[in-house]
Amino acid sequence: MDRNIDKLIRLNKFIADSGITSRRRADDLIREGSVQVNGHTVKELGVRVHPGKDRITVEGKLVRPANQRLYVAFYKPENVLTSMSDPHGRPTVKDYMEELPVRVYPVGRLDWDTEGLLLLTNDGEFAQKVAHPRAAIPKTYLAKLNGVPTREQLDKLLRGVSIPGGKASAIHVSRVPLGTSQQYAWYKIIINEGRNRQVRKMFEKIGYDVKKLKRVAIGKLEIGHLKKGQYVFLGPKGIEEALSSEWERPSKKFRPGSRPTNRPKGRR
Ligand code: URA
Repeated sequence: MDRNIDKLIRLNKFIADSGITSRRRADDLIREGSVQVNGHTVKELGVRVHPGKDRITVEGKLVRPANQRLYVAFYKPENVLTSMSDPHGRPTVKDYMEELPVRVYPVGRLDWDTEGLLLLTNDGEFAQKVAHPRAAIPKTYLAKLNGVPTREQLDKLLRGVSIPGGKASAIHVSRVPLGTSQQYAWYKIIINEGRNRQVRKMFEKIGYDVKKLKRVAIGKLEIGHLKKGQYVFLGPKGIEEALSSEWERPSKKFRPGSRPTNRPKGRR
């Protein structure tokens, strides 16, 4: 996990900043053995902690850092609800966020049966920026279809097809060399809106069912090496990438028949 979301700070400052007590009293609590960091009692003063990552308790109670902004890039598996609760008891993204010291909320949503990159944050302004249609942040998906559309059909997606809620268009669509089946084909599609089941409805409109759907990038932020169910914290670079409205037009060598362009990235 990337730990550079914020810098390390002294434990007594962390406790005081959270508003539960003064820095001096925090020192007393530490000396008394009432403070635990990631399950271990810490009695030395001057220990530094990572507010975005370390779990700090005082007298057994979790201390939530004050004013801490957290940005999480999560690989949502399929069959997980993009919600922080579910009255029917289905798995939700919250199940994966239990360890976080602050509550975060999903930015936009992925369908139950869609997997891939989902951002979560407690920064409402950031969430709005990413999700707002005016920001037109490109979202890149890989879609497995039950057939091979013609160029003419794909061009329709670029020109725009009408789906519930109005016309929807892709800014890019191309075949990618994934899978070996003759029956199914994979396509990369980039859209810069986020309407309900938009990718599925657009392909349906040209006569194809989406059998599998995976979001691989938001703006310039790629899913990279993340595995299903894993998350990383975003630092300033990752945040900037997620907010980028630019997208790279694939060069000739990435046209259908060559490798997909969403090569995994390391640190962000
Ligand atoms: N489009 C869809 O159809 N589903 C998603 O989950 C996201 C985009």
